[in-house]
Formats: sequence, C-alpha cells, structure tokens
Amino acid sequence: MYRSHTCGELRESHIDQKVNLSGWVHKIRDKGFVTWVDLRDRYGITQLVFDEDRSSSVLLEQARNLGREFVIHIEGTVIERASKNPNIPTGNIEVLVENLAILNESKTPPFTIENETDGGEDLRMKYRYLDIRRNPVKNNLIFRSKVTMAVRKYLSEEGFIEVETPYLIKSTPEGARDFVVPSRMNEGQFYALPQSPQTFKQLLMVGGLDKYFQIVKCFRDEDLRADRQPEFTQIDCEMAFVEQEDILNAFEGLTKHLLKEINGVEIEKFPRMTFDEAMKKYGNDKPDIRFGMEFGEMNEVAQHKDFNVFNSAELVVGIAVPGANSYTRKEIDALTDWVKRPQVGALGMVYCRCNEDGSFKSSVDKFYDQDDLAKWAEVTGAKTGDLICVLSGDTNKVRTQLSALRMEMATRLGLRKSNEFAPLWVVDFPLLELDEETGNYHAMHHPFTSPKPGQLELLETDPGAVRANAYDLVLNGNEIGGGSIRIHDKEVQSTMFKHLGFTPEEAKAQFGFLMDAFQYGAPPHGGIAFGLDRLVAILGGQETIRDFIAFPKNNSGRDVMIDAPAPIDDEQLKELHLKLDL
Ligand code: AMO
Repeated sequence: MYRSHTCGELRESHIDQKVNLSGWVHKIRDKGFVTWVDLRDRYGITQLVFDEDRSSSVLLEQARNLGREFVIHIEGTVIERASKNPNIPTGNIEVLVENLAILNESKTPPFTIENETDGGEDLRMKYRYLDIRRNPVKNNLIFRSKVTMAVRKYLSEEGFIEVETPYLIKSTPEGARDFVVPSRMNEGQFYALPQSPQTFKQLLMVGGLDKYFQIVKCFRDEDLRADRQPEFTQIDCEMAFVEQEDILNAFEGLTKHLLKEINGVEIEKFPRMTFDEAMKKYGNDKPDIRFGMEFGEMNEVAQHKDFNVFNSAELVVGIAVPGANSYTRKEIDALTDWVKRPQVGALGMVYCRCNEDGSFKSSVDKFYDQDDLAKWAEVTGAKTGDLICVLSGDTNKVRTQLSALRMEMATRLGLRKSNEFAPLWVVDFPLLELDEETGNYHAMHHPFTSPKPGQLELLETDPGAVRANAYDLVLNGNEIGGGSIRIHDKEVQSTMFKHLGFTPEEAKAQFGFLMDAFQYGAPPHGGIAFGLDRLVAILGGQETIRDFIAFPKNNSGRDVMIDAPAPIDDEQLKELHLKLDL
C-alpha cells in the first residue's frame, strides 16, 4: 500500500496512529541529531522526523541522503510536534518515520518548487510538469476543474445535452486563420481544425436536439496575447426556437450561478448596453464598468475657440481621472508620452487640472477661459481634485486611444479590483465591419448571424448601418462570451454570402451543406460561446489565461516543453503528398 493518508490529511486526532505516506521531498532540514523532511503531495505537506534517539542510524543516513523532489514512501507513527506550525493544517503533528523507501530519485529541479519561485517564465514552461507541482499553478488547475464541473452540472440540469463535434473539418470562419491538416488518403486536400463548432451546432438544431452544449477545444491561428491562445476552450451552446432575449436570460442564469457558486457573489440583473453606447461612453465594445471615467464628448465645448487642433478634429473627447490633479507636471508629461507611444498612437494630450479652490488650469489656457473649462468639467463629470485628459482626432481612432488611457489610469489607480465583478451584456452589434485596407465588408461576428428584423433591405443601401442580433457578455472589461441569433433561411443566408463577397459557387463549395440543411426544416435558433479559459481566469481574479491552462503555448505559439511545432521527416511529408520528389 503506497498510502493510508495524503500529505494534507493528518491532524492531532491521528496521534499514535501508524500511517503510510507517499510524496515528494519538498525540503530537508538536517540538524545533526535530528533531520526533518517536508513531504509534499497535491493535498499538502506533512513533516517527517528522523532522530538519533528514536531512529536507526541506517534510517537517519537514508534521510540525510534524500534530495529535493525525490519520490518516497514512508511508514511511521503520528506524533505531536514540539514546535507547532500554525500556518499549515498539518502543523500540529509530525510523523516519526520507521521505514523509508525511495520510489524514484530526482535530478535537482531547475527552479524551486515554492509558491514564489526563482524560475523565469521560459524555464517554467519548459518544465511545466514541475511548475504544476507549485501551489499557484496547481490551484489554478483545480479551480478550472471546479468551474468546468459547475458549468456541466448547471447546463445538464437545464436540459442541455453535451454532444461532441468533429475536429477534422472544413474551414469555419470566425475571423482568424485556420490550422490545416493534410490528408494522406486524399492527395492535395486538407482538413481545417475548427475555429469553433459553429456550423455543427447549427446542424444539431436542424437535427432537433433543441439544447446543445459542448466544452470544446477551438483552434485559431492568430497573434497571441495574454487572453488568447492558438488552442483554447469554449463552452459552446445552441438552442432552438429562441429569440435574443431567451439566450441572454439562459446564459445570464449560467453566469450568475457561477459567480455565486464559485465566488460567492450575487448579482441581481446584468446591465445591458448597445454597441453604439459602449463605443461612445467607453471607446470600447468590452467596457470595464467596475469604475467610472466615462467619456465626455467635447466638440460643443471645445470647438468654438482658436485652438486648431480641436477645431480640425472629428471628435474631441475627454475623461476625468479621479484625484489625478495631484500629478506633477513631470508625471503628466510622462502620461502624454504614454499616449503618444505607437501602441496607443495619440498625437498629444490636452489636460485640465480641477483645483481644490474650484479654479481650473489647463495646458491650453491661451485658448480657453475659466467658463470654458468649467464646461469641460461638466461634460466629463470632473470634480475638484480630478485631472481632465482630452484627446482629439478621427472618431474611431481617438475613442480607442482614450479607452487605452482610461484602462491604464484605472490600473494605476487600483480601480480594477480582481474580487469585484461587473458583468455587462453588449447588444446590437453591427452586422458587418468595413475592412479599411481592402474596402470590403466582413461579418463582425460570423456570416451565420442574422440581421435585426426588417433590416435585410438596408444591406443593399447602407451595409454598415445594419445591426445584428448579436451580443457579447463582458466581465470586468474582458469579452468572455459572444453569440447571435442565426439565419435559418436559405435565401437570407445566400444574400448574406453575396454581401460578404462570396460568389454563389464559392458559397456552395464552402457552405453548401448548411444551405442544404436549411431546406429541410431548420428551426429558428441561436446560441453563444463562452471562452472557458478567460472565464476561469477572471473568476480566479486574474487575466492571463496561460496560467489556467495545463500546457499552454508561448507567445510565438510554441510548446517549448515538447518543442512543437517541429519539422517532420521526408517520408512523412511524402506520405502526406507535401513533398513529391524524394
Ligand atoms: P467568438 O469568436 O466570439 O464566437 O468566441 C467565443 C469566445 O471565445 C473566446 N475566445 C478565445 N479565448 C482564448 N483564446 C482565443 N484565441 C479566443 N478566441 C475567442 C472569447 C470569445 O468571447 N461560434 C461563435 C459563438 C456563437 O456565435 O455562438 C464564436 O466562436 O471569450
């Protein structure tokens, strides 16, 4: 028997019991006459003791020769500790060892297996299995499992059935590039890995399954960020005979349940905001509403004087940063440099101090008097002690820039509290988005999303104005889910493809199967997919999804532990018809 108890289990009530434990040597403290070994497993740490009075010299020698991370098995008796450790649950006892067996030796690990480790990110990725032994990573994986289980239980109790859909498929357009897999049996042909199971879940609705979910891997070849991985997991859901309101209610229910179950937070009703409002108020379609600093549009109060920078701008817009009047001139200059970095791209920043005595002091006092500046304060909601930061330029660009500044200031001021949760539905997304480079429209969500009722005709005259039955769920400034009501009519779907620049032949070749299915009684349907990695990270009070994935890829899309991607040999290339002349 390897173990009668885990290393996190023994308490004073076990004193005098004979026990068997197995685990990893966490730490060894050798005081000559006595040696302590901390034995660790997933459940905790138990102190083992060997001493000159009670242990044989052979055993004592064995203990002294142990190394960090050796895997051992011991038999011994639980005794009361002389000096107790109130910091760990097993801190009142120790185990006097009678037998010790080394199950496996270990090389010295390349970094310390401690909560605070000396290992850098790259090293820890390469030895991820050692990193997983550390509490922060281990606890994140346990947390993820808890969330996943809660999701499965909730959805299954709500009548959703979990169905697996294939991974070797044809392109599903979600706006990223596909990962492709060459087919050995079909020369010159390729599968694409799913960017999402979108078309399959719609076909399941045509199949009459009514309520579907799947916790499923998706693959997208796109540039990586803290909240993006090339393979990630969705909680993918679809329902038949639903309108937008039904979907929002159903998945608000799921999210509320998780917040309560996992975080103990109760939220009555999630606020909703249209896409247009989100862009106007926050410059962002996934606003973090844990804090204010809403945008104040200032054209009316800033474009009546001789300040040409503002007069020539499409939009002048500002935020009131709470308490930031305390910033020194040097700090404001640094902030101006921050917004001028290429990553943000503003041309400059105008500021106005809101002094304690009610007066204002701006960087453009030459053009604006106290009455003007009082109006700036009014439109941005600034109070005494605040600093108004103003940017100007093309509407879309300047909104994005000010949004970056708003988030940065919130972070600096500690307003993005990880234990506070502010969900938000963003609704009424545009159906199409103009690609500035090519001048073509593409689907903002995906091509299967239905326009709002009565807006189909607008597609011909003003495609950019068409709104969709599409929605995102935002949590603390992160898009944790998105979905839409789908098109379920062949003709409408054909019209959509036409507007997206597909010829009828191309549409048939790529999506003929779906249009065919629509001819056999497709019910009205819609759904949503949550990014599980993001959801878990945010519920866990963090934002980097890598920390919640057992074996993540690095920023170049590499798995540095197994060293993938990697070349394959010529034989394999030939078999896959990728290299013809060997
Ligand atoms: P969408 O493309 O919005 O919708 O994706 C749904 C959610 O998946 C998460 N997500 C990601 N998470 C980590 N890494 C990535 N690279 C990544 N890309 C997306 C986000 C996002 O909100 N088929 C539709 C859903 C539907 O219409 O029902 C879809 O995939 O949290």
